[in-house]
Amino acid sequence: MYTAKEILDKVNEALSSLPYDRKPQGLYAPIQYVLSLGGKRIRPVLVLMAYNLYKDDVETAMLPALGLETYHNYTLLHDDLMDRADVRRGKPTVHRKWNDNTAILSGDAMLVLAYQRMAQCSASQLPAVMNLFTETALEIQEGQQYDLEFESRNDVKEEEYIEMIRLKTSVLLACALKLGAILADAPLSDADALYDFGEQIGLAFQLQDDYLDVYGDFKVFGKRIGGDILCNKKTYMLINALLLAKKAQKTELETWLSATEYNEEEKIAAVTRLYDEIGIPALAQQKIQYYYKQAEQSLAKVNLPDSVKQPLWQLAQGLLNRQN
Ligand code: IPE
Ligand code: IPE
Ligand code: MG
Ligand code: MG
Ligand code: MG
Repeated sequence: MYTAKEILDKVNEALSSLPYDRKPQGLYAPIQYVLSLGGKRIRPVLVLMAYNLYKDDVETAMLPALGLETYHNYTLLHDDLMDRADVRRGKPTVHRKWNDNTAILSGDAMLVLAYQRMAQCSASQLPAVMNLFTETALEIQEGQQYDLEFESRNDVKEEEYIEMIRLKTSVLLACALKLGAILADAPLSDADALYDFGEQIGLAFQLQDDYLDVYGDFKVFGKRIGGDILCNKKTYMLINALLLAKKAQKTELETWLSATEYNEEEKIAAVTRLYDEIGIPALAQQKIQYYYKQAEQSLAKVNLPDSVKQPLWQLAQGLLNRQN
């Protein structure tokens, strides 16, 4: 079996040797740009680690794994446009470096490339792979739509938020693990348990992303701190802040949510201070821990020795403490 680090190195090497020989350059340069900026590469690593639970020739699953990373990066191009985000991975986003139309069109091309790469599997696996990927991709659009709709609502319930992040984020991590299992011809019960594991890890992952959006270090996180606050994103933190605030705090929070003209740094500082006063950081961390416990139970259902599953669990634990 390979270590997570060895698998990550393989993914990065394969990504950097993808050919970019088509024209026009205006369409492909932004694709190459975003895919060369790094990122954690969690999704392709999860594909190959799940595959490696059953088989050693991980290269066989490489192109579909890269398809998933291509897909993920496509969602980021459009997400940054929708979230009005100027910086990702410490670099200007595609719509800032080029323009909005480039982010839309290069993003669309990436979605197609993702399908092309995903389809590089055996004919017997293709229907299951396409079924999984297509359903996942559709769910992500649904999640992104909820995410946007929630920006203008102040009555979003915690359950609605959890379902929204399950759709926009968790299903892709779940899909990565199940994809690896399918490509390795693993038993269906294992593939499903791995999917559940990915879903729980994914919920914790997005909760942590939302947490870092407020409490992260820009130099490490690579995205603007406070971006979610400026968009009035209905995160677990904001939903609970609204729920647990005392009267004066709630009034202040609502004033910031409805304000149309304000100093951005002032709004970020004020909302962050309210979160601190209300005890939101500890609450968010507890919720993350809760999903890790759930994830552990799902992984236990994968019918393999603990020693084989250990690297996957360690990788998941690493994500729990991530700062970027
Ligand atoms: C960002 O994903 C989008 C979310 C689902 C939070 P990652 O945090 O995996 O981003 P990169 O690929 O490592 O940059
Ligand atoms: C990520 O949500 C979901 C998708 C990109 C599908 P965010 O909007 O929180 O992701 P970041 O923080 O911009 O990476
Ligand atoms: Mg978003
Ligand atoms: Mg975003
Ligand atoms: Mg975010």
